[in-house]
Amino acid sequence: MPILVAPSILSADFGHLADDINFINNSPADWFHVDIMDGVFVPNISFGFPVMKALQKDAKKPLDFHLMIADADKYLEEFAKHGAYMLTVHFEACTHLHRTIQKIKSLGMKAGVALNPSTPVSVLEDMLHEIDMVLVMSVNPGFGGQKFIPHTIEKVRALKKMIVTQKLSTLIEVDGGVDTSNARALEAAGVDVVVAGNAVFGAQDRNATITILKG
Ligand code: DX5
Ligand code: ZN
Repeated sequence: MPILVAPSILSADFGHLADDINFINNSPADWFHVDIMDGVFVPNISFGFPVMKALQKDAKKPLDFHLMIADADKYLEEFAKHGAYMLTVHFEACTHLHRTIQKIKSLGMKAGVALNPSTPVSVLEDMLHEIDMVLVMSVNPGFGGQKFIPHTIEKVRALKKMIVTQKLSTLIEVDGGVDTSNARALEAAGVDVVVAGNAVFGAQDRNATITILKG
C-alpha cells in the first residue's frame, strides 16, 4: 500500500492560502499537515486560530495538527472545534502525557505523540497502545526547509518493531526534510505517513512529487 503524504501548510504562500489549500484538495495528497508553533517550546511562531479557521473552511482532506507548544492542555477543546482529525502533542512538552492523550481522544480526535530527534522511541513503550500515531521528528522542530537527520531511519525501524511486537496498528509519521531521495528508505523502515513542506511546495511539478513520495 502506498504511504500517505501530508503537505505542510507552513511552506504554503500565506498571501494566497486559498490557492494552496485548493491545490492540496485536488492533488494526490492525503492529509493537510498543520504546524502550530508558540515561540516558547520552539524558537518560532507560525499562525493562530483565525488562519486555522480559514483552513477548516476550505480543506477537504483530514487536518493533521502538529502542536509545538508548551501548554497544549489549555487548547485541546479549541483544536477539536477547528476540525482536527489527528492532534499530535510533543512528548517533551507534556508532563502528564497519559492524561493529555485521554483528553484528546475523549474530544473525538485521534491522538498522536511527537518525538524530538534526541528523544528515543523507547520512552513510548508503556503507552504505545494508547496512541494512534507516533510522529518521529527528522529535524529539530521549529522551521521548514531543514536537512533530514539520517538516524531517523533507525528510530523508525525500532518503533515499527515495537508496534509489531505489541500487535498494534499505531501509525508512524516522519516530519522534516522528507523528499523523494529518502522517502523509499523511510517506507522500507515502516513509515505510514510522510510530511513534506519544501519538497512539495518548492517543486516544479507538485503533483508529480506527491505521487513519487507516495511510492
Ligand atoms: C518543522 C515542522 C515541519 C515542517 C516540514 O518543525 O514540524 O512540519 O513544516 O517542512 P519540510 O518538509 O520543509 O522540512
Ligand atoms: Zn510538523
